[in-house]
Amino acid sequence: MLPDPALVVLVGPSGAGKSTWAASRYRSEEIVSSDALRGVVGSGPSDLDASADAFDLLERIVAARLGRGLTTVVDTLGLDDSRRTAWLAAARAAHLPAVVMRFDTPPELCRERNRQRDRPVPAQVLAGQLRKAGVTSTALDLEGWDAVLRITDWGRVPESAPQRPLGLTTPSAAERRSSQGLRFVLQVGRFPWGEDPAAWLTAIARAADDAGFAGLALMDHLIQIPQVGRAWEPIPEPWVTLGLLAGLDTRLELGTLVTPVTFRPPGITAKAAATLDAVTGGRAFVGLGAGWWEREHAAYGVPFPPAGQRLDRVEVAIETMRALWAPGTKAAAELPETTSYPRPAHDIPIILGGAGERTLRIGARLADAVNVRTEQVDRALAAVQGTDTTVSVLDLPIVGRDRDDTWTRVERLRGSTKASTYAERTHAGTPAEQRDRYGRLAERGVDAVFLAISDLDGPDDVERLSPLLT
Ligand code: GTP
Ligand code: MG
Repeated sequence: MLPDPALVVLVGPSGAGKSTWAASRYRSEEIVSSDALRGVVGSGPSDLDASADAFDLLERIVAARLGRGLTTVVDTLGLDDSRRTAWLAAARAAHLPAVVMRFDTPPELCRERNRQRDRPVPAQVLAGQLRKAGVTSTALDLEGWDAVLRITDWGRVPESAPQRPLGLTTPSAAERRSSQGLRFVLQVGRFPWGEDPAAWLTAIARAADDAGFAGLALMDHLIQIPQVGRAWEPIPEPWVTLGLLAGLDTRLELGTLVTPVTFRPPGITAKAAATLDAVTGGRAFVGLGAGWWEREHAAYGVPFPPAGQRLDRVEVAIETMRALWAPGTKAAAELPETTSYPRPAHDIPIILGGAGERTLRIGARLADAVNVRTEQVDRALAAVQGTDTTVSVLDLPIVGRDRDDTWTRVERLRGSTKASTYAERTHAGTPAEQRDRYGRLAERGVDAVFLAISDLDGPDDVERLSPLLT
């Protein structure tokens, strides 16, 4: 799989199969072709007199798309070093991965295909391109692309290419952020998985990765909560489920939102998270909360102490987990020893959910982030002021593809609530309207959005959210 969104620069002589390959994998809007633009501003794709105008447009389109974090496939010969490195710099500035697709089509095949064309490139021009392509392939390796992939046959990336060129080492991949500066994590709390739970979960995770989410969070409850669904609907154990998702070829960070401290001794949660972090190469996070729903505790024989004691346990839990994740095995945080292997692969972030005064104080002191609802952002921001703790929100909007679709969804989901009230409460709107709202949250200082939708039925619904993430 290629990184997406990304800059994809095609490199190869005429007849190598660049345009054909691009058309087989990308939407036409994603492909910026110098030939096509010659056809727009000139008499046709081979109107060389129109080249300057065509490239002028091409550069503007590339810049505009990359600036918006959109996948851009540059379909030119790709043999001009200075243009190529300028596109690479533009992708870097936009925090997008940048890859080259190198077409090593045998020269004889290029010549043959060229001869078949209505307007073949003159033979000596093609010979020049073939020479330049040979020199360019060595230059590519030194230019700093996240990956230089070779195409040797129709649409096929050879086996030796990395599964996901990912640019895992580039900041863009490690820290996916929208152009508004927000990190988006898909929060999944309902599981209408039909006959095949694993297939559904896999499809949702892949769709989240493709849509550009930085991570995926699972709700942690023992019985489906009334705010989301019926008690007889499935709600899987999250750490087991995250293990399944850890095995997929995504870049998603994986964790819970939120794990109640009451469910498991904190050391056991630390163990699960460290294991997840180790097997994912550092993609685990822990959302933690005090727990609130007495019924699920009673049903599973789990003690449910009063609120004050649960918050005491939150403090102890964070200290315990950090102690077990820290290097060494010495006594710490009231533990006689902290022997915990495997070691996590990175500093696992702890996100404390809840907006109570004491919760926010604990979060500001001990957690990496506090997570609140959008209405509680001001209090959370005030509480973390002067600390390194960031603020994230759990947002549950109704997102329609357009205005019509938005209101169809409101009508379907509102139950007996007045449509306008429901629409306001759920911030019902188009992607553009949601982005306005997120822009304002980002300006106020919100760092991340855990995005949940109550009409998450399948991967198409995740894909529907992708415009929010650009
Ligand atoms: P320029 O635009 O001139 O730089 O060439 P290009 O690299 O974009 O090549 P294009 O995709 O136009 O392919 C040239 C011809 O080869 C077309 O007639 C394609 O149908 C054919 N072709 C391209 N790729 C393949 C392939 O993998 N297999 C086969 N059989 N034909 C291909
Ligand atoms: Mg072409």
